[in-house]
This record gives sequence, structure tokens and C-alpha cells, in this order.
Amino acid sequence: MLLVKVYISEKEKEKVTISKYLQGQFAEHLGRGIYGGLWVGKESDIPNINGIRSDIVEALKKINIPVLRWPGGSFADQYHWRDGIGDYKDRRKIFNNSWGGVVEDNSFGTHEFFELCRQLGCEAYVNVNLGSGTVREMADWIEYVTAKTGSTMADLRAKNGHPEPWKIKFLGLGNEAWMGGGYMRPDYYADVYRRYQTYVPEYNGDIYKIASGPGECDFEWTDKVMDIAHSFMDGFSLHHYSLTDTFYNKGDAVNFDETEWGSLLYSAKRMDDLINDNLYHMAAYDPEHKVDLVVDEWGTWLEAEKGTNPAFLYQQNTIRDAIIAATTFNIFNKHAKYVKMANIAQMVNVLQAMILTKDDKMILTPTYFVFDMYKFHQDADLIDAYCNNGSDISYTISHKNGEYIISVCNSSITADEDVTIKFNHKLGAPNYSKILAGKEMNDHNTFEEPKNVKEESYSGYSISNNEINISSKKMSIITIKIPVAE
Ligand code: AHR
Repeated sequence: MLLVKVYISEKEKEKVTISKYLQGQFAEHLGRGIYGGLWVGKESDIPNINGIRSDIVEALKKINIPVLRWPGGSFADQYHWRDGIGDYKDRRKIFNNSWGGVVEDNSFGTHEFFELCRQLGCEAYVNVNLGSGTVREMADWIEYVTAKTGSTMADLRAKNGHPEPWKIKFLGLGNEAWMGGGYMRPDYYADVYRRYQTYVPEYNGDIYKIASGPGECDFEWTDKVMDIAHSFMDGFSLHHYSLTDTFYNKGDAVNFDETEWGSLLYSAKRMDDLINDNLYHMAAYDPEHKVDLVVDEWGTWLEAEKGTNPAFLYQQNTIRDAIIAATTFNIFNKHAKYVKMANIAQMVNVLQAMILTKDDKMILTPTYFVFDMYKFHQDADLIDAYCNNGSDISYTISHKNGEYIISVCNSSITADEDVTIKFNHKLGAPNYSKILAGKEMNDHNTFEEPKNVKEESYSGYSISNNEINISSKKMSIITIKIPVAE
């Protein structure tokens, strides 16, 4: 057993808030992410409100989802919004060429997305089509969604059942423009971005504009797009997926060995360098960091479950995924001054999901519980701390409403560790203490055994004055909330 000491910095630092949007979600028209996962239609026997599954909404509301990105991803660049409005029987059927060529009947469209956001109580992040769309199509969509009645677009929205305008808080202009979003070169994309953003109308509040950033460490992309277009954007996106090896050898989601545990975790931890390096390149053009970094796709990407359509990206989720979610949150939170939003890929049934469904059944994944335990850090003030040991330990310490919130993640497969944190104030009695832990490294929930992995109350800590000692179990995540006593 090792002893890890986490010291609270005594230095006077400016206040950094951990944006709640770092716990954002992403739902694409991909596999069973929307259809079957979220949307069953109003006529379904599965309980729903306005076609959206009630069991899923009820579970997701508990994790305080701040923002939802839609309709893609890759699909965004083949999405034409007019296909998804009006009477269901008249909606255009297309092939989803981004994801397996299956028929997309557009029954989940603009009205259904904003109804989902309403039910979840979250902000909308709409990714518009720069790959195969037009400037006018984008401008019309924003008018349709956000303008008060009086124009042809807004009146059409009212005719389709929603007279009140909705709000678009975040707008993505392009997705992976260097690949599926048009195979553009950075200078060309930067000019296309400048042109599109010129015609983003703001009828219902400010719209935060996000440019398509690099995949990982393509710094030529970062340099050129920032150089040419940084003064026209609020956010610059970054995508990073955790892979066991490569995209051609992704590794099994459940049957993996210790080496694969380590390599997937190593890949996840690269997020830290990717953020640092991209911020460094961005700062050359934007030294005051007016443009935020937005990691609008992240998570584990493993082999699709055997027997399922490989294009649907359906994968199981183990305690390893939970450790990766917590480790990644700890990285985001450390960079909270500059990283203002992140969206895990994806919310239901796709990649590192919160929830998996089978017909009318659903299970919560280990990753879901990490979001449940980290929700207390949303919009809390980051407490600057440093650690003298323990490469397997990562943590977030924050302060909100007179309470300290401590999350500790131990990614070791073998070793428990004692973590001591010394605060600058006396600690009261914790009012929340939970652990999510694995016994085996591939522990997961199934439809037959849905409660194998779940958060549980935890009393493995001791407090003395301003110091807490936490017994951090191997393969575990712990969150404790403690009022400041004086
Ligand atoms: O999340 C799955 C896909 O990964 C997205 O559609 C795309 O943007 C990325 O390549």
C-alpha cells in the first residue's frame, strides 16, 4: 500500500470554474443511439412521452446533463434538416451512408431533438452541415428554430406545432472537416468556416460558434485554422478516442488482459498532452485564449459486440471504461481554465455509452455512475492541488456552496492506495460518500445481471481537523462531499 499525498496549493490563484458543460453528451443518428435507444415513437408500447423513452430520460435526468450535441458527428454532414420536419408519413427516407447504409426515416428530427432537450433540461448543441449543405440551408434552419413568428421559416415551425422559438446555445460548423466532413484542407476549411459563420443569425440569444478542430495532434490543422479564422470563433474542437491499439485492432470491450487494460488507459491519458499541445499551438494566434478548447468527441472505441452490426458501434462497458471516464474528467478539470465543453461519445447504445438498451429493457453502465458521482463538480471552483506520488491516482478537488468535493480514481489493477489530502480549512462531517469499484477488471452489467457494478456508500476514510485520509481501492472511483467547518 502506497501513501499518496495531495497538497492544496497555497498560492493566490485566479478563480477557475469547472464548466458544467465538460459533462456534455453526444447523440448521433448512428446505430441504435437514437432509434430504439432514445426514440421509440408515440405509438410504441414502450412507455414514452412524445415518442421519447421515459425510462431513459428518467435515468439521464439524474446525472444533470448540461448539453447534448446532435445530429452528428459524421452524420451531420449528410443531414438536411428539412427531411426531418412535418408529418411523419411525408418525411424523406434516406440511406445513412455514414453508418452502415441503413434506412433513416427521419422520424427523429428538429422538433423531436428539442423535445428531448426539454425533457432532459439541457442546452442544445446543434452541429450544422458544411460538408454537403449550403449557407442558406444553415441560415434557414437557425431561423426555423430560433426566430419568433413572422417569417416564413418561423411560421412553418408554428404550423408544425411549436409557435415558441427554441434556443441554440452552441453551434458546430462542420465536423472532422479534414475527413468525413469534406476531406478539406485546413486553409480551405478556415475560409469556408469564415463564410458560414458570417450568416449565423442570432434571433434568440447569443450563439456560441465552434470550429472543427484537429483529430488528435494534427497541429498543421490547428495552426492554419486558428491563424485564418480564430477571431470568428468562440470554441475550437478536438476529438480524441481511446484505443487499445489502432482503429484496425481496437480490442475487445470485455475480454481483455492486463496489457490491454494498460494500453487503453495509456491512450486515454494522452488527452492531457493533446490538450496541452493544442492549447500551445492555439496560443500562438490567440495569446489571450479568447477561443476555448471544446473536446466534443471523446471516449473508448472498442470492437463492436459480436453478432451486432459493426457499423452500429455497439460495445459493452466495464469498470475499465469507468476508470477511463474518471481519469479523463480529472484531466479536463485540471485544464478547466481553457477547456470549456466536452461531449462523451455517445449517450445511449453507441461507443462509451451511459445506457444500453435491449427492446424495452435498459441497463446503466459503469460510465453512467462516474457521471453521477462527478456531477457535483459541475460549475464548482477548481481547487489547485498537486500530488507527490502515485501514477495510478488521479483526482479532482473542488469547492461549491460551502462544501469541498473530492473525487479520487485509482486505476491500478492490483494495489489499494492511501490518499491523504490536507486542506487549508477544518473539515466537517461528509454528507455524501460513494464508491464505484471493480473486483475483476472486466466487471460489467448485463441485461441478466444489471447490478454487478454500481455505486455504493463508502466509509473508508478518516478525518482529522483539516486532513482527510481516503482508502482508495484498486480499480475504483470515490467521491466525497465535505462541508467546510470553519
Ligand atoms: O462518434 C463516432 C464518430 O467518430 C463520429 O461520427 C465522427 O465525428 C468520429 O469520427
